[in-house]
Amino acid sequence: MQDKNNSDPLVVGLAGFGTVGKGFARILEENQAEIFRRAGREIRIKKVLVRDVTRARTQALPPGASFCADMDELAHDRDIDVLIELIGGIEQAERIIRQALDAGKHVVTANKALLAEQGEELFALAARKKLFLGYEASVCGGIPVVQTLRESLAANRLTSILGILNGTCNYILSAMTTRNMPFAEALKEAQDLGYAEADPGLDIDGVDSAHKLALLIRLAWGVNYPFRKLPVSGIRDITPEDIMFAREFGYNIKLLGHAYMENDRIEAGVFPTLVPNSYLLARVGHSYNAVRMEGNAVGSLFMHGLGAGELPTGSAVAADLLEIARGGKANNRGYTSGALPAADILPPETASARHYFRLTVEDKPGVMRDVASIFADNDISIHQVLQKGQSRTVPLVFMTHKAKALDIQNAAKAIAGCAFASAAPVYYRVLPPPGGTD
Ligand SMILES: NC(=O)c1ccc[n+]([C@@H]2O[C@H](COP(=O)([O-])OP(=O)(O)OC[C@H]3O[C@@H](n4cnc5c(N)ncnc54)[C@H](OP(=O)(O)O)[C@@H]3O)[C@@H](O)[C@H]2O)c1
Repeated sequence: MQDKNNSDPLVVGLAGFGTVGKGFARILEENQAEIFRRAGREIRIKKVLVRDVTRARTQALPPGASFCADMDELAHDRDIDVLIELIGGIEQAERIIRQALDAGKHVVTANKALLAEQGEELFALAARKKLFLGYEASVCGGIPVVQTLRESLAANRLTSILGILNGTCNYILSAMTTRNMPFAEALKEAQDLGYAEADPGLDIDGVDSAHKLALLIRLAWGVNYPFRKLPVSGIRDITPEDIMFAREFGYNIKLLGHAYMENDRIEAGVFPTLVPNSYLLARVGHSYNAVRMEGNAVGSLFMHGLGAGELPTGSAVAADLLEIARGGKANNRGYTSGALPAADILPPETASARHYFRLTVEDKPGVMRDVASIFADNDISIHQVLQKGQSRTVPLVFMTHKAKALDIQNAAKAIAGCAFASAAPVYYRVLPPPGGTD
């Protein structure tokens, strides 16, 4: 792109006029005066790419804009300075972003799946061309966590990131916690209210959180942690019983993205986690997102807000666009080096954490002794035990001290093979209480 004068209007090609595209266009129109004061120039949408140009729309086109359905048109339009990619998916989104960068246009996207799976090549292309590839909207919608990690915490050595990165999961878990709903009912309610997709797999199986976690790791430590190597488990199997036991011990269950830097190695993953009630993270309700970051200079920092929705996500898109409009130097990944090194990954099976362990066992003498012996054989030390109810089979719940993931898996397998076990054991990670170490 031939850089225009900083006072010339900035011309945008908007790919996608769905939830986020419409929200972004509305913000640009409704907050026009404020945006002009901050950007120092007009920002205009010239073309809007959609699949079906004939479909009636609930929102009018931005003034002066026209619809188009030809994906190549935005990159080839010489007036367009910035492509905003909000169509989602991988192949076609990648194609239009690549075309735009090749044509010298800056890009803004909310596409976490694409950036987590194939981001490095696109970032390298943008760096070669000295172009912006903005992605504030791709992690936690309206929460400015990308900017915070890239700029505000740039002088820190980050030690940990913990995040509630998916609003759908948080809505479901909050409904299960506060209204004792079973998972299926809470999911149905989330779908009816528009918080969950008709096909909710990416959300409830933890994949969407893992996409965002991979981006946060890249920003925090300047390394590539291949998204497919992240251990991920979702929330499908969480029962009201587990929520109730967790509460008895003083915890709420949340789906958390974890990333820790220890001895120059990264331990990371997405897991349902028991969070002590005294943590702000435990109290994040409804469909809100939150991120807790810890830096060696700043200490611990907590951000909370709406992680999705047309206006919060549109607001993050507009913020990236304003940065471009101001004409600064692109700093997409936050590191000056070219290609980022591969992350030194702590093998997930060696990661150590406290665990919640629920067994369903026959209520008869000797069971506790056998379970304790399996734990001891696997180097697991017990912190607390709870047994409830009086019937032929009963839940037996343990909180362990820190134990390695592989030892926990082996103990679960051994217990599942015992005659007294009437269901496979259920186990989840537990965050230590503030100040706790093991
Ligand atoms: N929704 C959120 O709250 C949220 C939050 C954070 C990030 N994101 C990300 O933002 C992106 C957009 O999400 P969204 O919820 O706005 O999606 P959406 O509501 O489904 O809208 C997608 C838009 O893209 C257009 N489109 C899709 N494929 C196309 C193609 N091949 N050619 C031309 N146009 C195409 C659609 O056209 P038609 O209108 O003709 O169907 C529609 O206007 C995704 O990457 C998503 O992960 C969304």
